[in-house]
Amino acid sequence: MTKRIIVPKEIPTKELHQYIIGTVAPRPIAFVSTVDDHGVENLAPYSFFNAFSSNPPILVFSSNRKVTDNSTKDTLHNVRKTGEAVINMVSYNIVRQMSLASVEFPSEVSEFTKTGLTPVASDLVRPPSVLESPVNMECKVKDIITLGEHGGAGHLIICEVLRIKIAEEVFTNGKLDPHKLDLMGRMGRNYYVRASGAAVMEIYQSVTEIPLGFDGLPAHIRESTVLTGNEIAVLASLLQLPDSAELDRFYDERPDLKNLDNIHKHRVASSLIAEGKAAEALCLLM
Ligand SMILES: Cc1cc2nc3c(=O)[nH]c(=O)nc-3n(C[C@H](O)[C@H](O)[C@H](O)COP(=O)(O)O)c2cc1C
Repeated sequence: MTKRIIVPKEIPTKELHQYIIGTVAPRPIAFVSTVDDHGVENLAPYSFFNAFSSNPPILVFSSNRKVTDNSTKDTLHNVRKTGEAVINMVSYNIVRQMSLASVEFPSEVSEFTKTGLTPVASDLVRPPSVLESPVNMECKVKDIITLGEHGGAGHLIICEVLRIKIAEEVFTNGKLDPHKLDLMGRMGRNYYVRASGAAVMEIYQSVTEIPLGFDGLPAHIRESTVLTGNEIAVLASLLQLPDSAELDRFYDERPDLKNLDNIHKHRVASSLIAEGKAAEALCLLM
């Protein structure tokens, strides 16, 4: 793999911005509602956003100075004045309305009116929540950290979540269902990702039981020219190598696999891993 070297100080901010948003991706989108001190509603998407603590529950998004004219944004002005925000999560069904809200409408124009989204009164803060969003987080702004004075510089807006409202429709058997939540992520340029269906994968990894690790596998498995790094990692996640009794049981059940040559063993192991039969794949490779 040949790697391109990018030195931030040597390239224009606009170009650097694309490298950052195209590689630190996908990012969740905070669809932030605020009000100014006259009560005018504002709604804008921010994908320099994430969760940083569960206790206390802290979300942070960054409102950046515009690269074009170094000006700051309405959301920042509003949270400075009122100390409150609602972070609404963006699902597929509202992604284009979210995009519309990112337009630089004049400050006195409400993006709720422009996007057709419905403001509903929040319980604990003045900014309204977005009715059509599946998740509304009512927040108190704890701190604002200024990261610089030039175009592109962020202001970290540190929010403590006071109340979370989640649509009943996105639960299955009492648990959040990513397919029903159907959240959108922001990538570089105009790219987005839809986090449901085939894009969602489950990876089970116990963090308390100690697995074999790559170094616990025999060299011919670690250095396989057939298995991918991900496939070897599945084997390395097993807790132990099979003992001779397990190997006997395996070949009693699969005598057809006993006399395969090495390459074919690795190919069959790859298929077994894909079928979720990692322990059997490891027996075959031992
Ligand atoms: C998906 C998406 C993510 C965005 N993320 C950010 C961000 O993290 N920081 C930022 O300053 N602007 C971001 N923007 C641009 C703002 O939404 C845009 O400048 C908007 O007009 C700001 O509105 P405001 O002045 O009402 O706060 C994003 C735009 C989109 C479409």
